[in-house]
Amino acid sequence: MSQEALKVYETLKIQIAADRVGIVTMNRPAARNAMNTRMMEELRDFFADLYVNPDAAVCLVLTGEGKGFCAGADLKERKGMSDAVWRRQHAVVEQMARAVMDCPVPVIAAVNGAAFGGGMELALACDFIYAARSARFALTEVTLGIIPGAAGTQNLPRAVGQRRAKEIILTGAPITAEEAAAFGMVNKVCADDKLLAEARATALKIAANAPISVRQAKKAVDKATELDRMSGYAFEIEAYNRCVVTEDRQEGILAYNEKRKPNYKGR
Ligand code: COA
Repeated sequence: MSQEALKVYETLKIQIAADRVGIVTMNRPAARNAMNTRMMEELRDFFADLYVNPDAAVCLVLTGEGKGFCAGADLKERKGMSDAVWRRQHAVVEQMARAVMDCPVPVIAAVNGAAFGGGMELALACDFIYAARSARFALTEVTLGIIPGAAGTQNLPRAVGQRRAKEIILTGAPITAEEAAAFGMVNKVCADDKLLAEARATALKIAANAPISVRQAKKAVDKATELDRMSGYAFEIEAYNRCVVTEDRQEGILAYNEKRKPNYKGR
């Protein structure tokens, strides 16, 4: 990890193991990991740094300390906030959302409790979501006089379809992990005490694959909801060609033929 990303954060715990699977834990448990401006900046900086140093980790798991995943923006910090300060803070939220969605390294959200407001949007900005059985999801913004502003109105319809997204966003009412899974927003509902282990096990499977292939495939899949099919396919072919020239492409074929596990180098 670069020196920058290894810096000690005030609101995040970053643990990157020897296998280079990283656990990123939002760490304001007394506020159910609500995001104050500092946490928004730190999430932005952490993910932006991975854009610069994609070899720092091969897969990440984003979770919350204590009982919650993330309760959205810190509503106590926002009390009495002027329009100007609110707008500046929101610009940081926008940078944060873009940094998560632009992160070249796959990110699994392990939602261990309430993911409300910006917390749910953060989970939606990740590549996919595992949730504890007791987790709850809500986009409460319209109950607070705003609307989702961390790409929730874009990522939720992509996950659950427009009609379900409208019901969730326009009511502001919470849904359970099981409902979120039935809607296609959560990939797996786990026992509360198994969530992190299950997310990590999946991260390890991703980490066993060729890192450049994983990054190129992630980008190509993102295009499936952003471009028409033939433009997306043209992007896929460009992404594919980036893999053809790698040592890992040769290693993958060699390992198969030698009946052994590949030893990928990320080049
Ligand atoms: N901002 C600031 N503090 C928050 C917070 C937020 N978004 N969400 C929770 N907290 C604080 C609570 O005020 C409480 O602090 P206190 O002990 O000083 O009173 C503490 O975290 C625990 O919250 P509590 O409501 O008792 O926990 P819970 O487990 O019963 O419920 C939530 C968790 C997240 C469902 C609930 O706190 C909630 O609805 N929060 C608001 C979420 C929201 O609408 N966010 C959208 C922002 S745009």
